[in-house]
Amino acid sequence: MPEIQEEQHLSNGMVPSLFRVENVRRDTHDTFTLELVPAGNGQKFSFLPGQFNMLYVFGVGEVPISICGDPAERHVLVHTTRAVGTVTKAMRRLKRNDVIGVRGPFGTHWPVEKAEGCDVVIVAGGIGLPPLRPALYSILAHREKFGKIVLLYGTRSPEDILYKSELERWRSRFDLEVHITVDRALDGWHGNVGVVTTLIKKATFDPDNTIAFTVGPEVMMRYTILELTKRGIEKSHLYVSMERNMKCGIGLCGHCQLGGVFVCKDGPVFRYDTIEALFSLREI
Ligand SMILES: Cc1cc2nc3c(=O)[nH]c(=O)nc-3n(C[C@H](O)[C@H](O)[C@H](O)COP(=O)(O)OP(=O)(O)OC[C@H]3O[C@@H](n4cnc5c(N)ncnc54)[C@H](O)[C@@H]3O)c2cc1C
Ligand code: FES
Repeated sequence: MPEIQEEQHLSNGMVPSLFRVENVRRDTHDTFTLELVPAGNGQKFSFLPGQFNMLYVFGVGEVPISICGDPAERHVLVHTTRAVGTVTKAMRRLKRNDVIGVRGPFGTHWPVEKAEGCDVVIVAGGIGLPPLRPALYSILAHREKFGKIVLLYGTRSPEDILYKSELERWRSRFDLEVHITVDRALDGWHGNVGVVTTLIKKATFDPDNTIAFTVGPEVMMRYTILELTKRGIEKSHLYVSMERNMKCGIGLCGHCQLGGVFVCKDGPVFRYDTIEALFSLREI
């Protein structure tokens, strides 16, 4: 289980720390993964699964991006990002040895420790898989402490599937149930077709003793919650990660406010029953 952050050498205030791009990987046509190491020597850092960093592309701007590497690996920060706009497209142009600013880690985390002794169902839609991957790493590092582990992952097309070789490795494990689906199949795809919620009926778990984590577009999370509760999981055992526009990341500016909560500080990971009333609202 990841320990509470006993090493905190990253900037968690307003001043970014400098990180060097160690490696760049193109995952799909619009998504890429950066591996970042401290520009100074020997720095270590820690984070909890589900937390995010504010990544600053110099001269362009700053965006919140989830940390998607292994929490046990304290020398490298991994971020998988979809290029959608100004900052993320500039980030996609970064090359090995370029420098980027990092503030964090921020926010709440997946309650992996609470899930000990339970079955765990992880439901990811599209770019929702990266924020969930550290939770899966942590669970697999202590596999014996958990019951059944199920990963359900849906993307628009086979070309949008992230971490393909890792998914293949996970699929071949006897102690992990992995189901993948795509909205639209292409030639050569022999897997499931349909939205990710259609996989929930295939998953094997004990609803009375299951904790579920989900990330994806809000409409996908709403239907996921509906299906999981239909299968009998209590709302208090469901956790979601929310996205809102962010500026400060530390509860000062109000950009991420959602009703009475700040997504950057009180989230992004919420127990579903605590935000159910706010769940479908945009910023208010
Ligand atoms: C806590 C948190 C964690 C996040 N983790 C990740 C992550 O791990 N990987 C990742 O790729 N993104 C993640 N995001 C989303 C990411 O922060 C945004 O995509 C980014 O801020 C967009 O900034 P931009 O300057 O590139 O786009 P902008 O120039 O601000 O936006 C350009 C266009 O893209 C649209 N857009 C903005 N955000 C999104 C979005 N999320 N999806 C689709 N269209 C969008 C805008 O509406 C606009 O039309 C996270 C967001 C939050 C709040
Ligand atoms: S981003 Fe400033 S309060 Fe949350």
